[in-house]
This record gives sequence, C-alpha cells and structure tokens, in this order.
Amino acid sequence: TPPVITIDGPSGSGKGTIAHRLALALGFHVLDSGALYRLLALAAQQHGIQTHNEAALEVLAAHLDVQFQNNHGEAMLILEGEDVTESIRTEEIGAAASKVAALARVRTALLQRQHAFREMPGLVADGRDMGTVVFPDACLKIFLTASADARAERRYKQLLEKGFDASLAAILDDIRARDLRDSQRAVAPLKPATDAIVLDSTALGIEAVLQTVIAAAKQ
Ligand code: CDP
Repeated sequence: TPPVITIDGPSGSGKGTIAHRLALALGFHVLDSGALYRLLALAAQQHGIQTHNEAALEVLAAHLDVQFQNNHGEAMLILEGEDVTESIRTEEIGAAASKVAALARVRTALLQRQHAFREMPGLVADGRDMGTVVFPDACLKIFLTASADARAERRYKQLLEKGFDASLAAILDDIRARDLRDSQRAVAPLKPATDAIVLDSTALGIEAVLQTVIAAAKQ
C-alpha cells in the first residue's frame, strides 16, 4: 500500500501550506480533507439542508458530486459541475464545515472517499483526524499547532490577500470557537495521535517547519 504522511492540527496552523510543499518535495498526492467538509457545507447550503440535519447530510455526503482537478499545480474543486475553489474558502463556509464535521454519520460517509486518495507513489493527508482515524497506519504523523493569536493573524492576512473583507477580532473569536468545537466534539476530536510528532509553529517560520518535516520524512 502507498505510504501516507499525515499533517493534523487546528485552523491556521499552516498545515495546508506545509502539506502542499511537502507533497511537492516528495512528488506525493495531497488530500485536503477540510475541503471535503467545506464542499459538503456548501452543497448543504445550496440544497437548503441545515447544518444539524444529520440524516440528510449523511446522504448528501455519500453522494457528493465533487472532482479535485489539478489546475497548473493548484487544486481546483468542482462541485456539481461548478468551480467552487474560491467560494468554499469564506469564513461562513468554514464555520458551517466545522458544524457538519461534528456529525458522526457524516464523518463515516466521507471515510471511503478519503481512503481513495491513497495512491502511488504516496499521499500527504491534511486535516484534523488524518493520523488518529483516517490513516492510523501512516508512516509519519505530524501535529502542527500555533497560538490562537498567531493563527488568527495568518488567517487574517490570507483573507486580505484573497480580497475578502475581514476583521482580526472576529477571526480570533471564530478560531477560538472552532478550536473548542473541534477539540470537544464526541467524534474524532482534534488531538495528536499518540505516535505523532508535535510541532509548534508560533515562533517558527513556514520554511523552518517544512525543513523539520522533510527531514523527518526522509528518515
Ligand atoms: O483550517 P480551517 O479550519 O480554516 O479549515 P479546513 O481545514 O478547511 O477545515 C474546515 C473544518 O472542517 C474545520 O473547522 C474542521 O471542523 C473540519 N475538519 C474536520 O473535522 N476533519 C478534518 N479532517 C478536516 C476538517
């Protein structure tokens, strides 16, 4: 079976960037599992399904019509034939994603879809429960974290760069609320796998984190 490297951690810890850079360095595929929850949240909104309607969300998750396409090295996400690469990145969809992600039957319905990303020569899987639930047999597990303030600031800069309107205070509140929901939920709560390497990126730049992870991957 193809090797998997998991990168888990809270919102804004830099997982996404590290996962992509690591995959590029190793020639591996990438699974952005958060995007799946965001896609589901957007699909639910478009179909008028509420974020607590577990039965309807389970069916939607099992039949979700999505394609991950490679657009000159950038992931392009197609939902029901429509390019939603940008529109799933709003704070509103992020908050809704974290709500649908708290539902056990939704998570189970998305398992098989995530396993399907495991292909030769290997996979870097980015998420909250990649090392604990989805790929417990991964050959390397990284848990990337940073202080809530540092993560809010990064998210704020990212949103401004993408041309979204943003408030730092609102983002910090949202990050705290999401941390709480992600770590306190009954199913797949956010926590490092027992065999994970925990890295705190509060004072470490992306490059330093990347070098540490690449060194660990090469061992
Ligand atoms: O990093 P950020 O929180 O902005 O978003 P994301 O990684 O795109 O994930 C969106 C939401 O999906 C998170 O708040 C989590 O609640 C949820 N999620 C999850 O439960 N399990 C995963 N493996 C990935 C994301």
